Amino acid sequence: MSLEITGVKKGEAVAFKNPPKAFFDAIGGEEGMKKLMYNFYDKIYESDIANFFPQDEEEFEEVKAKNTKFFIQICGGPKVYEEAGEQNLNEFMVRLHDDFSINERARVEWLGTMREALEELEGVPSELIEQFWDYLDKFSKLTVNSFSDGSTYYAAFTQVKEIK
Ligand code: HEM
Repeated sequence: MSLEITGVKKGEAVAFKNPPKAFFDAIGGEEGMKKLMYNFYDKIYESDIANFFPQDEEEFEEVKAKNTKFFIQICGGPKVYEEAGEQNLNEFMVRLHDDFSINERARVEWLGTMREALEELEGVPSELIEQFWDYLDKFSKLTVNSFSDGSTYYAAFTQVKEIK
């Protein structure tokens, strides 16, 4: 299985495809997504980016739950993520991350943590995991807003191409 992290370039247009519904089905639907995301967040709390996330247990629980719902919906599952209203889900998610100073190092740590959780999945075809990964690798570039030269750049969604 090849889960590679490609580098972010400031201002570069990003094209991505939402993950396939087949991935959602293969991991066991809503329950499977919950297990995957809760496992991911347990690892986040042991990672170098734990400080980005709420330390309060109830707030942490809320982030886990919302995260699970977002991923259920973005994979083509039931529309359970209510925060975005009528807005484009991906655009809403990019803007939500503007409130945090995310650099490439934080992105790589986030992706590396997710990779560990994905490698623990059992009985899921690797090509489906790779397609899910492809979305994460590309989409996560849009959450990076702080650069090594000290500048900030908030990705304009007009530069994004959602491939159908
Ligand atoms: C594929 C990339 C990513 C996706 C799809 C994603 C998705 C999400 C979702 C669904 C939430 C919860 C939204 C809500 O509150 O309704 C969230 C929150 C958050 N994400 Fe991400 N994320 C991504 C990458 C990253 C990266 C690279 C970082 C780097 C540190 C990050 C940091 C955070 C933080 C700090 C929060 C908010 C925690 C809080 O509410 O206090 N995310 N993300």
